[in-house]
Amino acid sequence: MYFNCLLLGLATLPSLINAAFPNAPFVTSGQWIHDSAGSNFTYVGVNWPGAADVMIPEGLQYQSIANIVSKIKSLKMNVVRLTFAIEMVDDIKDNGGDVTVQKAFTKALGATNGEKVWQQVLKNNPTFSTSTTRVQVFDAVASELSKQGIYVHLDNHMSKGAWCCGGSDGNAWFGDQYFDATKWKRGVTWIAEHGKSWPNLVSIGLRNEFRKPDSTGSSLAYTWSVWYDQVIAAANSVNAANPNILIFLSGLDYDTKVTPLPYADDLGSGKKFRLTDYKYANKLVLELHNYQNSATDCGSMEGGLWDNGFRATGEKATNRMPVVLTEFGFSQSGTDYTKTYATCIKKLMPQWKTGWTVWVLSGSYYIRSGTQDFDESWGLLNKQWSDWRSSAAIGALKEMIDASLKG
Ligand SMILES: *[C@@H]1O[C@H](CO)[C@@H](O)[C@H](O)[C@H]1NC(C)=O
Repeated sequence: MYFNCLLLGLATLPSLINAAFPNAPFVTSGQWIHDSAGSNFTYVGVNWPGAADVMIPEGLQYQSIANIVSKIKSLKMNVVRLTFAIEMVDDIKDNGGDVTVQKAFTKALGATNGEKVWQQVLKNNPTFSTSTTRVQVFDAVASELSKQGIYVHLDNHMSKGAWCCGGSDGNAWFGDQYFDATKWKRGVTWIAEHGKSWPNLVSIGLRNEFRKPDSTGSSLAYTWSVWYDQVIAAANSVNAANPNILIFLSGLDYDTKVTPLPYADDLGSGKKFRLTDYKYANKLVLELHNYQNSATDCGSMEGGLWDNGFRATGEKATNRMPVVLTEFGFSQSGTDYTKTYATCIKKLMPQWKTGWTVWVLSGSYYIRSGTQDFDESWGLLNKQWSDWRSSAAIGALKEMIDASLKG
């Protein structure tokens, strides 16, 4: 009898947990993010890139979507930052509709390799067919994540589908070679609307890593004033299209700074960012990136992160709001996980009770900066996406996950 009860208990518990998922939409409350049941939710996840040349999530030539999601789940991560390119939406809107995955591979990798890799994708993911489009791959990834109880945070990573980020890649700032501000707003609005059919979509990052373009060309001025005009217009549009999702605002200099936002400093021309100006104030979150990989002093990293934006979580902030570290990361091939940078972030995130998504899940890329089947030494997964790249580094990451989830 006792034994039977135990079995019943074991069988029921996971289904109860699944029944509660997704507890969306989320809202903010001061520096916290709450799920729809009113509990604190801390983002603890990983970046899964889908914004490069092929413009679909990486890794599917090596594994099924379900296998990849199971790896993420096995770490107890609760969210994936899924990146996409505006070019995908431009194709849908301006160029006759979404491109099939098969054609996307041929275009990005050439006829021979493209077809070969597409066949590998099909073999691992047999529900796809020649008519499957790129957006349908995003749908399939979101659906599997939902099935396994993991949230989706969309991130507009690039305008043109390519590896990110540099000052000369034409995607740096509004008006840059490929960064058409109007198409950008249309793109983030379109995907926010599209994502309404994903029950686990809880948030979107409007743009990854604004940066000063090397050659200004027809770019708008690289200022907080321009940031304000463009980003707030996009946020208004996204919120109108999908009022449920949180909107993450990223800053300047590769999103290492949102410095003037927490205290509503003058952004130029008298413009100020004030949460109280927005009907959807409880949907706004700040995001930062940090790659101080050669740091030697955790105290100075802590001070810098705080001043550059985490002070929005402090009680004195004019705009008290959550800040999520949506990118940090390091090589998984050596002992970087033992060094100051990695151990400092591992300490700070749980200490500040703040969310994070580590860069990066991939394994490898279909193509990165012209090199096909690019092996990613920073990837949590190995080149074949079959196992962790370093069990020692993953062990350290698991400790950070557990500490962050403990709240
Ligand atoms: C969220 O976490 C903070 C810090 O641990 C705590 O003070 C607060 O009560 C929590 N809020 C809820 C709704 O649990």
